[in-house]
Amino acid sequence: MCGIVGYIGTAEATPLLLEGLRRLEYRGYDSAGVTVCANGSLDTRKMAGKIIDLEQAIGGNLPKGTLGIAHTRWATHGAPTSNNAHPHFNAAEDIAVVHNGIIENASVLRQKLEELGHLLRTETDTEVLALLIDEAYDDNLEEAVAAALQQVEGTYGIAVVSSRDPDKLVAARNGSPLLLGIGENSLFVASDAAAIVEHTRDVIYLDDGELAVLDRHGYRTSDLRGRPLTKEVSRVSWDLGTIERGGFPHYMLKEIFEQPDSVRDTMRGRLLVEQGTARLGGLSSCLPSQDIGKYNRIVLTACGTSWHAALIGEYMLEEFARIPVETEYASEFRYRDPVLDERSLVIAISQSGETADTLAAIREAKEKGAKVVSIVNVVGSSIARAADCGVYIHAGPEIGVASTKAFTSQVVALALITLYLSTQSEPLLEQAAVAEALHRLPDQINQILGRNDEIRGMAERYHLNKNFLYLGRGYNFPVALEGALKLKEISYIHAEGYPAAEMKHGPIALIDENMPVVFIAPRGRVYQKILSNIEEVKARGGRVIAITTEGNGELDRLADHIVTVPTTHEMLQPVLTVIPLQLLAYHIAVLRGCNVDQPRNLAKSVTVE
Ligand code: G6P
Repeated sequence: MCGIVGYIGTAEATPLLLEGLRRLEYRGYDSAGVTVCANGSLDTRKMAGKIIDLEQAIGGNLPKGTLGIAHTRWATHGAPTSNNAHPHFNAAEDIAVVHNGIIENASVLRQKLEELGHLLRTETDTEVLALLIDEAYDDNLEEAVAAALQQVEGTYGIAVVSSRDPDKLVAARNGSPLLLGIGENSLFVASDAAAIVEHTRDVIYLDDGELAVLDRHGYRTSDLRGRPLTKEVSRVSWDLGTIERGGFPHYMLKEIFEQPDSVRDTMRGRLLVEQGTARLGGLSSCLPSQDIGKYNRIVLTACGTSWHAALIGEYMLEEFARIPVETEYASEFRYRDPVLDERSLVIAISQSGETADTLAAIREAKEKGAKVVSIVNVVGSSIARAADCGVYIHAGPEIGVASTKAFTSQVVALALITLYLSTQSEPLLEQAAVAEALHRLPDQINQILGRNDEIRGMAERYHLNKNFLYLGRGYNFPVALEGALKLKEISYIHAEGYPAAEMKHGPIALIDENMPVVFIAPRGRVYQKILSNIEEVKARGGRVIAITTEGNGELDRLADHIVTVPTTHEMLQPVLTVIPLQLLAYHIAVLRGCNVDQPRNLAKSVTVE
């Protein structure tokens, strides 16, 4: 959460910084600010509100200069006010800091600083950084930053400028993502490549405990003790076009419509249809498929939508690889001293690759000797690097805060891993069927997208309802959870996902004509069971929306609305059944006038615990 961007070069900094902030806005959007360093002073504009509010406030009166830093905030310490907006300063206002992360010992440091006579003017944890740098300053900015950071506990990605050392930008990272962009006559620092990809695709991913100095002569990297480090320059594989809205009114809709391609990209070069297996280069050396017998337990761990994908993976892996599998919320898993050893395989799933709880769960698992595999979208992210090895989903940048295309690609990646790990086990025929079904998924997703208007019509009918229930069984129970999450995230309608059979143990009490119940009911092993649950809802006057497979006329008499999806292998059906639910949530949110891409209180990347 929070996005930071910094620039030093020959062009005016403010337009580049504001544009960078716009591309990072998905990380947080409750306040924003920019500081430019020129002619021996710092010119700052910051305020509560979105980037567009800041841009309007600045108008034509841009801070002038070719060196600056900027920030878009998702509040943790202190309300989202103009005063708490970044950058933060020392008393003389000649050192400016932008920060993403949490300084955990901020209150101790505040007290210490107050005892030294400093007056703290904001409620943020970041202000202490500016004051510590001020205390440590002795005519060299990077040394002061390094000295300050050595007193700090917690996580940070920071960028610092000072009019006392006016041609320098200092950046450092511990636990919050930060990269350098290496352009021609220009250097950048950013939380994410999206902020700078228009200007350069050559980046250096900073690791924890590293510091970078960007000045008029170039850049250098070191540890906090000043020992120089040589870092590899990587090339970002996507460009600006990939992160523009491409004619869609919202990123979320664009990303829903990208799913035929994103799912295809997840499988590209990996799915061997004829052999009924998958080739996963990222796993072959650290988890050769024949070694799966060494493990007696698989734990899948993730947060949010990625956790829903993990639940589907649990069903797949248990069914095919025949190993006990559990799915754990990363935030719970790490705090209960899990029983893990070298016979445990942990699979961590994350779109951003930066979710703090998932990262911490990986560290816990590694400490206990478990093998850790990641399934991540963002290349070079912290989780990808912390794991022993992994599989990138290659879904492309996901900007909409509500995750859509990452979810379907995560499920597909889990199916590939299932094929990869189950090559030793029977029945091979089943694996061939799964491989064949995976191959057909992109076209089948396209067919469902063709029903967008139909789903919008349904949204018109239901967008004023206050509560929704989503019910599914087996592989489609996690889809019920995901459908409910999508709706509540972006439309602020209360929605619950439940295993359909559990309805009788509570939620059935809520059912009346004002409660739409969305059943995910494709034909399959549990279809007859879910049919009984639909009857039970109907008998109590509930409104039924059914997602079922094409050619199933049986629900016509029971459901108020039906959306059909093509039939695929049962374990892959979630990739198809979730798509109408993404569209339903999207259209309901738009009809309710909600900000689909930037729902209130949420952020795309949760880098705080
Ligand atoms: C946030 C996002 C969700 C996402 C979750 C986990 O809550 O808003 O869309 O599912 O974090 O994020 P990750 O990047 O680890 O998948």
